[in-house]
Amino acid sequence: MTLFRLDASIRAEGSHSRAIADLVEAEWRQANPAARIVRRHVGTEPVPATAWAAAVSAAYVAQDERTPEQRAAVELARQETDALVAADAALFAVPLYNFGVSQHFKTWVDLIVTDPRMAAGATPATAGKPAVLATVRGGSYAAGTPREGWDHATSWMRRILEDVWQFELEVVEREFTLVGVNPALDQFTELADGLRAEAERVAREHGRALAGRLVA
Ligand SMILES: Cc1cc2nc3c(=O)[nH]c(=O)nc-3n(C[C@H](O)[C@H](O)[C@H](O)COP(=O)(O)O)c2cc1C
Repeated sequence: MTLFRLDASIRAEGSHSRAIADLVEAEWRQANPAARIVRRHVGTEPVPATAWAAAVSAAYVAQDERTPEQRAAVELARQETDALVAADAALFAVPLYNFGVSQHFKTWVDLIVTDPRMAAGATPATAGKPAVLATVRGGSYAAGTPREGWDHATSWMRRILEDVWQFELEVVEREFTLVGVNPALDQFTELADGLRAEAERVAREHGRALAGRLVA
């Protein structure tokens, strides 16, 4: 039994997305003590930004005519895809950056989509597997807030993970992680505490469900 875990936070210490994903992982581990966890830290060890274009252009060139850069990119896509599709379940921990998806997560996704096993339009190798997306945001984009609709990451991640890659996806979200860091948000301390507790509860629940889906 293998869990594939991807972290996209650019920091290793104090990361709230890692902390939420840790709760999911802990529940998974409890149910599967001997399970293997394959980790990919794309925020701190990113896929090279040039790999995607090289892999895309390689598809239009006969194998023996590819440049070394194209060959390396296709091989990298194969390795990244191997790690993902070999797993029985997946856990993605991805923060919101600049109102959009983490560039490191998108670069990784784009590269994987160049692999024929995960290309849009085909039945992906991950179809039907369980997955959890843990996403965190410094501010709040909830209905009725001044920046409602400014989170352009979560819906895109859902489209890719749930619709393109066809994971059986559960999502846990935590907002206001910058409360306590940005003094302008001090008025939201109580609300943020509640959101944190609720996200932690949901993370544990999704972790148990993830483990349960595979035991069943
Ligand atoms: C460069 C940068 C840009 C960010 N942009 C946003 C943003 O647009 N909206 C938001 O709500 N939070 C934003 N944040 C805050 C992060 O989403 C928040 O700190 C989150 O907890 C980071 O994930 P981590 O704790 O796992 O590292 C940004 C943080 C950084 C470092």
